[in-house]
Amino acid sequence: MSKPFNYARLYDRMAPFYAPAMRLLPVWRRYTESALPWLSEAGTVLEIGPGPGVLLRKLSERHPLAVGFDLSPGMLRQAQRHLRRAGLPVRLAQGDATHLPFAENSFDGVVMTFAFSAIPDGQAALDEVARVLRPGGLGALVDACRPDNGSRIACWLARQWERFGDFMRDESALMRAAGLVIVERREFGAFNSIRITVGRKPGGA
Ligand SMILES: C[S@@+](CC[C@H](N)C(=O)[O-])C[C@H]1O[C@@H](n2cnc3c(N)ncnc32)[C@H](O)[C@@H]1O
Repeated sequence: MSKPFNYARLYDRMAPFYAPAMRLLPVWRRYTESALPWLSEAGTVLEIGPGPGVLLRKLSERHPLAVGFDLSPGMLRQAQRHLRRAGLPVRLAQGDATHLPFAENSFDGVVMTFAFSAIPDGQAALDEVARVLRPGGLGALVDACRPDNGSRIACWLARQWERFGDFMRDESALMRAAGLVIVERREFGAFNSIRITVGRKPGGA
């Protein structure tokens, strides 16, 4: 039997180069920040797959409780360094998004930027997002996509992501299957190749 692919090791190898690469691509950062308006500043927030913690730093500045959860110990070390240097609290945990070590109804917001497409079992990850969200809480995904307008360049880009092992999916359908109600689905960025999808857990005030 073949061994399962070791995603944590892949991201560990990328970790030292990831934040410098993000600095060279300010547009990437802007894409990730498109999730911020959806996360109420008063609430608790979980970022899944924060990588080196560039968005997590922003979340930690704005939210009383921001937690980062990542598969890769190497990425978490980078995030820890980044938060410490900024004098911010470090709340990080390691593991797989398909088994979150948090109680149900724990967070007002959950965000994933360019992390959902890295997770093979997307439905299991979104079921976990729905479980840990409080009723009324929002889950926001920002990721590369195959856009609804069928842009040939964006579809070509999506194929390149897939060649590198990413999964291009219909996040809205998977969110709905997890019990979330879609409140935003918008494509933007170069050739509409980026999509933000936001789902709300039913209930709450
Ligand atoms: C492409 S990076 C994105 C980093 C950052 N969020 C960004 O927007 O640039 C993907 C991140 O997701 C993490 N990741 C991949 N699979 C994961 C999983 N199953 N559970 C938790 N994190 C995962 C990786 O370790 C990595 O830090």
